[in-house]
Amino acid sequence: MKLRGIENIDFRGKYVLLRDDFNVQIVDGKITDAFRIQQSMPTINALRNAGARIAICAHLGRPKGARNMAYSLAPVAEYMKIPLIPDCLDKDFMKNMADGDVVLLENVRFYPGEEANDPAFAAKLADGFDIFVNDAFAVSHRAHASTVGVAEILPSYAGKLLASEIEHLSAVMENPRRPLLSIVAGSKVSTKIGVLKALAKLSDKLIIGGALGTTFNYAMGGRVGNSLYEADQKDTALEILEYAKQNNCEVLLPLDKGVAKEFKPDAARTNKDFTEIEDDDIIIDAGEKTTQRDVAAIRSAATVIWNGTVGMAEWQPVWSYGSFAIAHAIAEQTKAGKLESIVGGGDTVAALEACGVKSDITYVSTGGGAFLEFIEGRVLPGIAILESK
Ligand code: 3PG
Repeated sequence: MKLRGIENIDFRGKYVLLRDDFNVQIVDGKITDAFRIQQSMPTINALRNAGARIAICAHLGRPKGARNMAYSLAPVAEYMKIPLIPDCLDKDFMKNMADGDVVLLENVRFYPGEEANDPAFAAKLADGFDIFVNDAFAVSHRAHASTVGVAEILPSYAGKLLASEIEHLSAVMENPRRPLLSIVAGSKVSTKIGVLKALAKLSDKLIIGGALGTTFNYAMGGRVGNSLYEADQKDTALEILEYAKQNNCEVLLPLDKGVAKEFKPDAARTNKDFTEIEDDDIIIDAGEKTTQRDVAAIRSAATVIWNGTVGMAEWQPVWSYGSFAIAHAIAEQTKAGKLESIVGGGDTVAALEACGVKSDITYVSTGGGAFLEFIEGRVLPGIAILESK
């Protein structure tokens, strides 16, 4: 896939509409994880240095087309120390811009035309701009006005982050160093069927963990107590296991679990094999045997793709045990030059951050849903429109 890049474009004095994904976690008006903003800086700086006049367009949360200030991008503007334009369709600010200036437009999802990809809304958004640059890999799976609509109107290019995501993810999908181990966890089989199948086809080994793993254990006749799992996904789980077998992919399901009688951070933890799980037990983390086996699998892999934590990683230290052991093992092997590692998904990246090992990973994607869809091999509309003909 070859995208139109920003490298040889004359940006001096041009009004550039830059799409970034600043859908970051904000608690009490403060950004708690600025990873996506940090990763967007190389493109912003390159455009500034090239003399562009930049208006960044972004979304926060799902305000459903209404002006709900709980979803204001004001904390992001404050963090970045740039002016916030309170209405993304207001163009007055353009009059006062000099080359290299940057502003942030208020949440584009305050208008229903954004998610509907309404051509009239896209035309208003694009009005006054000379060039569109999309650097928002994490939202490129959405065919919205600010990802696709404006790209149909303005000369459009891929920013550095978007190009880097495609380059790294394509490389591991097309030509991975083997053995390739994929680790997929999280809560729902129903949202990960596509990625599980794609990775079962590509990988030599596939670890399925978290509540996702519990559903697979249930499908195989295991005891799951009062835990989160999807009874209606039993057939799908069995189908995925059969598909993996046909593709010579060894699937590693949870062997044991960390359980409690209550679903809360300070609940007392017991380690149980599936045969020992009682009706009122709640599975909250991977068990010790499972974790040791997963760490051994990581140590014998040449490439690891990881999406999804295997327990409540935010409930530290008791329930983060399984996820943190995986994070540390991947980081150690990568640092030692024995492993190429690709990690994606908000919770998973947060676990790396909490362990202090994010910088040891070969490539950390900014994408959540976009990361999964890309790996699944789907066409991402915000990217397809930037392909060189
Ligand atoms: C994300 O956080 O994954 C992206 O910003 C997309 O958000 P959405 O799922 O609300 O479209």
